[in-house]
Amino acid sequence: MGAAMTRSRPVAAIVLAAGKGTRMKSALHKVLHPIAGRPMIEHLLASVAAVGAERIVVVVGDRREQLEPVVAAHGGTVVVQDPQLGTGHAVQQAEGALEGFEGDVLILYGDTPFVSAGTMSRMLERLADSDDPTAVVVGFRPADPAQYGRIVAADGEVIDKMVEYKDASEAERAIGLCNSGLMAVSAERLWPLLRRVGNDNAAGEYYLPDIVMLARSDGHSVVIETNPDEVAGINSRAELADVELAWQRRRRALAMADGVSLVAPETVWFSHDTEIGRDTVVEPNVVFGPAVRIAEGARIRAFSHIEGASIATRAEIGPYARLRPGTEIGEKAKVGNFVEVKKAKLGAGAKASHLTYLGDATVGEGANIGAGTITCNYDGFLKHATTIGEGAFIGSNSALVAPVAIGAGAIVGAGSVVTRDVAPDALALARGEQREKPGWAARFRATMRERKKAKG
Ligand code: UD1
Ligand code: CA
Repeated sequence: MGAAMTRSRPVAAIVLAAGKGTRMKSALHKVLHPIAGRPMIEHLLASVAAVGAERIVVVVGDRREQLEPVVAAHGGTVVVQDPQLGTGHAVQQAEGALEGFEGDVLILYGDTPFVSAGTMSRMLERLADSDDPTAVVVGFRPADPAQYGRIVAADGEVIDKMVEYKDASEAERAIGLCNSGLMAVSAERLWPLLRRVGNDNAAGEYYLPDIVMLARSDGHSVVIETNPDEVAGINSRAELADVELAWQRRRRALAMADGVSLVAPETVWFSHDTEIGRDTVVEPNVVFGPAVRIAEGARIRAFSHIEGASIATRAEIGPYARLRPGTEIGEKAKVGNFVEVKKAKLGAGAKASHLTYLGDATVGEGANIGAGTITCNYDGFLKHATTIGEGAFIGSNSALVAPVAIGAGAIVGAGSVVTRDVAPDALALARGEQREKPGWAARFRATMRERKKAKG
């Protein structure tokens, strides 16, 4: 992003994630719980990357092994804080990992993942302003300030005092401006200040905000405000669901702004990486799992569940369709109700309109897959492929036992169990031959009626 490229000083990010996260009641580390299908900390690390941070340190308590691969994938390192003696102490643990780093440090929380790159830029820009503040603190005004730390700033910007709720007076508790916990400060000032932080307070912890107070003798710190949604922390499953919903609402609005029609936006669920072209219509109650790409002008009908699929222009999916990973749907192809597709490619204009399973399959252009067709792709041990040629017609309720190939233009009679390849343009019938006994039904009924009468 432009902001990153024009920044004059290097940037490092320290992400705090050593809290116990007890309220999640989870074996999974709190910051790995997904939002829109992506671990919450990865949302944050994506913004950190966008702002051009060249060093990333994540401070963890237990379960470091869960976090390490995720953090490494974003080019960061993990340091351990044990025991956890407060936010100031947590930041201090990153000093070794940032040895030799000269630049500005963003202090972020792993459980506050939706701080935007824009806000991070604002923090850094304010830090670089000519009045040279020691620290830039992000404040917010929640509807219920509850137990957040308060920021006393008589002129609305220069910080007079930061005080934790536990240590605050009644008058301080009445202040609506709260500390989000996020801060920007230069490395050269941060480390010496942290060494001076003590733990003589109500919690017996080393408070990060204390550096603001300690720096007052030779400087000033400032608060910049942001909206409460952006700095909403996640401490419980209920808050996780709230933040998910907020994310979905933003994404729906974005989709519509980009020219996608959502008939009932509140019922459509996106993944973090969903891509949809303009003039595509998404009907109510559609769920997108990861890795979905939809071109322009497609129609996703109600109650469809789609993941790992790419859908070409003017294709129509659903209602009640399930597309699983490895699905590629061609232009103007149609996947109808109660059709499941997995690792299968449908050529342009191909149709599978009803009650079908297509797995490990290739379906040629314009082929028609009758209702109830099943590709029998699994023998209990291995998966096998089915190939259906261009323009082929598969009669309803056919079982195609893979590996098998149906030639282009071939017709498979309804109800067939196809176990051998079918040549192009051939007719394959693989079902019991029909027999007919004239008058048999009428004779049967007459006989049975007599028998019933005789019994009384
Ligand atoms: C902190 C702030 C408070 C602010 C609030 C916003 C301090 C002293 N207080 O509250 O002013 O309003 O955040 O949510 O900074 N963490 C560690 N190691 C620790 C303690 C915390 O890594 O020893 C991490 C947690 O994982 C979490 C973040 O720091 O990501 C905040 O911790 P939490 O306990 O939620 O916040 P408080 O300290 O209560
Ligand atoms: Ca918290």
